[in-house]
Parts: sequence; structure tokens; C-alpha cells
Amino acid sequence: MRRTRLAAAFTAALLTATAAVAGAAAGLITEAASPPQPAFALPNGLALTPPMGFNNWNTTQCRADFNEAMVKGIADIFVARGLKDVGYQYVNIDDCWALPQRNGQGNLVPDPVRFPNGIKAVADYVHSKGLKFGIYTSAGTKTCNVAGFPGGLGHEQQDANLFASWGVDYLKYDNCNNQGVDARMRYTKMRDALAATGRPIVYSICEWGQNQPWTWAQDVGNLWRTTGDINDTYAKMVSIAKRNMSLAQYAKPGAWNDPDMLEVGNGRMTATEYRTHFSLWAVMAAPLLIGSDLRRVNEDTFTILRNTDVIAVDQDRLGKQATIISQAGGRHILSKQLANGDRAVALFNENGSAQTISTTAAAIGIGGSASYDLKDLWTKTTRTTTGAISASVPAHATVLYRVSRGGTTPPPNRYEAESATISQGTVDSNHAGFSGTGFVNYANAVGSYVEFSVNAATAGPATLSFRYANGTTTNRPMDIAVNGGAPVAVNFPSTTTWPNWQSTTVSVTLQAGANTIRATATGAAGGPNVDYLELS
Ligand code: GLA
Repeated sequence: MRRTRLAAAFTAALLTATAAVAGAAAGLITEAASPPQPAFALPNGLALTPPMGFNNWNTTQCRADFNEAMVKGIADIFVARGLKDVGYQYVNIDDCWALPQRNGQGNLVPDPVRFPNGIKAVADYVHSKGLKFGIYTSAGTKTCNVAGFPGGLGHEQQDANLFASWGVDYLKYDNCNNQGVDARMRYTKMRDALAATGRPIVYSICEWGQNQPWTWAQDVGNLWRTTGDINDTYAKMVSIAKRNMSLAQYAKPGAWNDPDMLEVGNGRMTATEYRTHFSLWAVMAAPLLIGSDLRRVNEDTFTILRNTDVIAVDQDRLGKQATIISQAGGRHILSKQLANGDRAVALFNENGSAQTISTTAAAIGIGGSASYDLKDLWTKTTRTTTGAISASVPAHATVLYRVSRGGTTPPPNRYEAESATISQGTVDSNHAGFSGTGFVNYANAVGSYVEFSVNAATAGPATLSFRYANGTTTNRPMDIAVNGGAPVAVNFPSTTTWPNWQSTTVSVTLQAGANTIRATATGAAGGPNVDYLELS
């Protein structure tokens, strides 16, 4: 009886949510009469790179040492040991923070032994360190642990409001005791409840991959678990990594596959295995949530967790998850496309004895250059190669390289067109002289566009320089629009031949931080070939 009532209530809620999504989609179709739009991500604008921080579960579970002192201690260490400086931001608490019963008003009550000053005091402390605070509950009638507490099912808005009133910045929403109610309904209900609080809250869906959330959760949560729980063993870590690897196509800024929290530092893997764990999570653009008690870990742990080269791979603003190049005989080769045109390549040896793992620049998607620079992101050594990428990889180890085209490093203000959002058209490489891995060949159609996401250090006037080629004698005009504003028409006249790349500049006004620059073809021949956009 209870189950039927809940299910009916959730069906009604989902109908409302579906109508809202359909309305939004209809809006986009009228706006454009034109090109297909990129799939939605949750429009809360959060987690544009994978979340980084801490969660206590992997180290304490529900033991008594999960308490206020621990949470504050972790926040202190984030600041004192440089973890905040390298990007770790969220200090999150997991199951067992509340009492097993709601109070007379139906609200969750912090366990007064663990959190004698309540949760808001802890959140305030974390915020006072310039960090963010996260909390946990379950999309069910109770959380997962036997010592747990009442879940959010049927209490979504009340619990979301309580969390927002405490200053919560991140919610992990688990899957236990879900009463068989449809997962999409349950998680959508909490998405809408969080949105209704008006507070920006990263939303972490934790349904263990049971309902293939990668196929439906991109506009529901900022991240979704893809597997069951990790534990501090090499075998479990690898089995989870292997399942998550195949889901690369579903990850993008604001919407991430989550192979669960880190075990680095918990003591039951070797330093080599923890480096593999961290390397694989980085190339998979996974959330980096530290799961060890940083008050007690060894120095190896800090060295691994603070490797800024590896973190940069995880946090790359393009937001691509590595794709599998090959996996024969437990020799895994994964390649992650990076925003500046580089690739990160992980050579992971799953086996119990050393193996030589070999690939080439072309095979990992960065062919066409006479030489390449390879930086080993763990040893920090660099070398050049004409294309061969090979290493003797010890048992259970990962060699992680950043591979760049040889010669000069591209300027930081260059945005390659092949890394932008492309509405129609293709990435081609048949005309020499381009930078990065190719150029965009626009579809020969009005409305075909490329949209760049660029960063401006300060608000104000800026010059956009488009490197392009137009091998025909007629103009290939485009409208250049900044942040969806009024477009500026630019001609892009002929460059005579297709391999003759030239630059055209446009003066615009940018806002500080992220901006979108959309270049839309306005003629039937489409846009010119576009190599990159530079900002000055
Ligand atoms: C589930 C989750 C874990 C953890 C526990 C808490 O198992 O998947 O990550 O949150 O519940 O009980």
C-alpha cells in the first residue's frame, strides 16, 4: 500500500519534470531552426571539471572516529599541506552522521556524539577555510549502513531545504532501501528539490550503475557512480576501473562517470598500485575524492595526491574521458584528449610481471607531426620521439605520459577548433599547416557553427584572432557571437588555396572567466576551414 502511494506520487513528479525538460528542448528548437544542439548537462553550472575533495567513508565507515574533529582536521590539512592549492575543495561526510529517527518536525538530526555542535557549525568551519562542504543521504527510506538514518525518499524538499540552510555545497545521494521506486524518478525528484533551494549544490548520484545512469543522468546529476563499492585492494580497484573505462562517451563538463572514491593512503595497496589508481582515475576524468584519513597517512600519499601534472590531466577543461586504444593481455592503453591539443596516454600493466607496452602517436590520436615530446608525469623525465611510445612497465604499474607535438608549445590563449563544440561539419587534416590535431571543415550550410569556450582573466575589450583558410574566391561570412549576444558579421575572404592559413581579427567585449564564442556560417557555402581561435 505504502509502496503504491509512493510510486504514484513519483510518477506525477516525473511527469512534471519531463514536461519541464520537453519545454526547454522546444525552446532550443525554436531558437535555431538549425543545427543540432549538444546534449544537455545539468544546468546548475557546477562541476565543469571533475569534483576534487575528501569523503570519510573509505577510511572510517561508521566507526566512532568519524566525527567533528576529523572533518575539521581534514579541512586544516587541506590548507596546511597544500591540497587546497592544487585543487581539492570539497570536504564531504558520508553515512552515519545523523540519528536513526527524524525529530518532531520531520527533520534529520545530527548525531550529537559525533557532531555535538551540529552540522552547520562544521560547514561554517569548512567554509572559513575557503573550502566547500558536502553531505550524504539515500534515495530510500533509510541509508545503507545498519547504523544509518532515515533517507530522503518522500522527504526530498524538506531534506534539501535543511541541507541548504546548513550551507551544504555537495550532496551524495545513495540507493539503499529504495522500495523499488524507479531510479530516474527518485533522482530527478531530488535534483528538482535541490534546484528549488536556490543554493548551488553539486549533485552526486550513487545508484551503483544499476540502471545505466550514463544513459539518462546527464541532466539529472553532475556525476553518477558506475559500479558497486570500491575497497582497498588492487583487485577491486582494477575491476572497477575496467568497467568504468568503457563509458568514455558519456562524460563531459558537468556530467561525469564516477568509479567511486579514492583509496590512496589507506594502506592495503602498494605505492605503485596507488599511483596506478590515481593515474587511471585521472585519465578517466573521474572525481578525485580522497578517501584516507590525512591525519594519519604517510608522505607517499601526499606525493601521489599532490601530483599537479596528473591532476591537470583529470581537471583538463575539455572534459573528455580517455578512450581505450587497446587492452590485449592485460596491457591497457588509454588516451585522453586534452584542451591544448596534447594527449595523456596511460600504459597500465595489470599483470603480476613486467611487460613492455607500446603504441604510437598516430594510434593514440595525435599523428601527423615529425616529432613529439613525451613527459612522464610520475618521474618528470621528458624525451622526444618520432612517434613510437613504449615503456617497460613494472607489475601493476602505470606509465603516464603527456604527449605534445614537437617544437613549440602552443600559446595558452589558443583554442583549437577541433576541441570546440561543432554543430555540423567534420574535423579534417588533409590540408597541411594546421596546428593541433586538425581543423574544422564546416558543413556547407547556413547555420553550421563552431562554439569555443574561452577564459578571460579580466572583463573588458579583447581581440579574437581566427586562423582560417578559404580556398575559394568568394567570402565565407560568419556571425561571431559572444555569450549568446548580438553577432558581428565577419567576411573571411579567400586565402586562394586551402593550405594557405591566414588570420582575421574581431574586437569584442568579454566577461571575466568563462565565455562562449560562436562562429556561425551565414552563407550557403558554410564557414571557412577554421584552425584555431586565439585570444589577446
Ligand atoms: C553505499 C555507498 C557507499 C557508502 C555507503 C554508506 O554502499 O555506495 O559509497 O556511501 O553506502 O553506507
